[in-house]
Amino acid sequence: MVRDSGATVAEQIEIRRLSPPELREQLDALAAVLHDCVAGGASVSYMEPFSHQEALTAFEGFAAEAEQGRRLILAAFADGELVGTVQVILALPPNQPHRGEIAKLLVHRSARGRGVARLLMERAEAEARAEGKTLLVLDAVTGGDAARLYDRLGWTTVGVIPNYALYPDGRPCDTTYFWKAL
Ligand SMILES: CC(C)(COP(=O)(O)OP(=O)(O)OC[C@H]1O[C@@H](n2cnc3c(N)ncnc32)[C@H](O)[C@@H]1OP(=O)(O)O)[C@@H](O)C(=O)NCCC(=O)NCCS
Repeated sequence: MVRDSGATVAEQIEIRRLSPPELREQLDALAAVLHDCVAGGASVSYMEPFSHQEALTAFEGFAAEAEQGRRLILAAFADGELVGTVQVILALPPNQPHRGEIAKLLVHRSARGRGVARLLMERAEAEARAEGKTLLVLDAVTGGDAARLYDRLGWTTVGVIPNYALYPDGRPCDTTYFWKAL
């Protein structure tokens, strides 16, 4: 059973903000989650064919930014195994110091439907607030699993942009923009 307020559930799901050394240790596991999500058809920037090595390269870039304080990366562990992740982009133009962006909310297909993404998002919002952010924005495939989650978590829909991005197999998808004041 998921407890709303905590980062731990009965199934031993723990949310952690990854420090630079921990990020390096977990790069392969983070890449595995991204690779699984793209293999499952998620529209999260990448196209098929998408290899584990390409996923690793992507997370090496995110880790480098995290080390510079430009983004933060959270991970969800189920019984000690990394099953999900989310990022908060902190480095935005000088006239938007109060704003952050949520990116790459990813949960391995084997761990879905247990509230992992909800826990990740709640913690991402708390971490963003602790960094002095008062406004977050994000975008998601219109009508998808993530968009439903953002609705449930109190995010406000801005609108839909048709044909904004592609699924990994090349089909176009609409995108919905959301915002939330912290
Ligand atoms: C979107 C995504 C992150 C959701 O991850 P998740 O961990 O499965 O999310 P949750 O478990 O919090 O919620 C998923 C569903 O499980 C339900 N759920 C949560 N905890 C539950 C529990 N303990 N028992 C039963 N159902 C539960 C939720 O109500 C939700 O139901 P819905 O599908 O009817 O809306 C995941 O599907 C994913 O990684 N997709 C691919 C990548 C992607 O698209 N990312 C978003 C980029 S914007």
